[in-house]
Amino acid sequence: MKFIYMKILAIETSCDDTAVAILDSSEQGHKILANIVSSQIKIHAPFGGVVPNLAAREHLKNLPVVLKQAFFESKLKEKDIDLMAVTIGPGLIPSLLVGTNFAKALAYAWQKPIIGINHMEAHMYANWLKNPNIQFPALCLIVSGGHTQLILMKNHGDYQLLGETRDDAAGEAFDKVAKLLGLCYPGGPIISKIAQAGDSDKFNLPRPMINSKDYEFSFSGLKTAVLYEVKKQKRLNKKYIADMAASFQQAVADVLIFKTLKAAKEYKVKSLLLSGGVAANPLLRQNLSLKARELKNTKLYIPDFAFCTDNAAMIGAAAYYQRNRKDNHWSQIQANANLRLVD
Ligand code: KG4
Ligand code: ZN
Repeated sequence: MKFIYMKILAIETSCDDTAVAILDSSEQGHKILANIVSSQIKIHAPFGGVVPNLAAREHLKNLPVVLKQAFFESKLKEKDIDLMAVTIGPGLIPSLLVGTNFAKALAYAWQKPIIGINHMEAHMYANWLKNPNIQFPALCLIVSGGHTQLILMKNHGDYQLLGETRDDAAGEAFDKVAKLLGLCYPGGPIISKIAQAGDSDKFNLPRPMINSKDYEFSFSGLKTAVLYEVKKQKRLNKKYIADMAASFQQAVADVLIFKTLKAAKEYKVKSLLLSGGVAANPLLRQNLSLKARELKNTKLYIPDFAFCTDNAAMIGAAAYYQRNRKDNHWSQIQANANLRLVD
């Protein structure tokens, strides 16, 4: 078999991370020659969340610097690039517009083919970075700041949405609960750290929709349950915060894992994939790994920590499997804040 090798330059600016990666990809695997992520957390943290126009302004400043660094680390020049890829949505429109216009200008100037990539699809493809031989059908649980979806992947580009959240995304719930507990943004990393010292049985929080017959999720009621508990307190001490963080994290993980396993069994999938920022949660990773042992013919994949949260390497990986798309011209690239993977 003749393998197709491609050097891919990928750009991601859907939210508040400015990311550029360069991959040397083939069917055999993806060599990451550079993976630069410039975080804006310090700028947005005082506002308790991402401020879209501020994020766009920072992307504009950061993109040329991050691009230069990626080329420096990869030891490549623009002439070595075979394919470009850029996130076109979903995400914050000011952020997406900066990234797509930057990428379009480069593709035009350098006369390179360029592919627009769905950010959620790329999160799934973070799993291919280390494992190029994932078998279909695969079930993917995407848990990020904006989405919580269970997707059945029948093949590359052939997806079925089994269920998604009806209100808050799992990551959004982590961020909101962190705020209720007086913790900083983003909430996921700090809650998982503080929860290590907490008792997850201390508060009996609900497991929303765990027994519903579908694969839908809901996290806003869980957040409200935390709010009502917190309101009973005059002052939140360290022990209380740790116990609440642990109880909340456990409730989220329980629901996600229960429904994911149920779907994996029903659809008899060969592979089970975890992805998105919340996939960096140690309890979710650990408990899903333990529970997935029940599935005899299903292999579990979880990306390395750095590839769970936003990065451009995953955009490049997704692009490799779409390299034959015909709309690979800069004039076809258009940002869409509400882009959906499947309806
Ligand atoms: O995928 P991502 O980087 O951006 C989006 O596409 O939304 O996900 C960001 C989300 C945030 O809500 C953040 O709080 C959450 O991922 N997150 C975590 C952890 N690390 C990041 N949630 C739980 N535990 C973590 N360790
Ligand atoms: Zn993301």
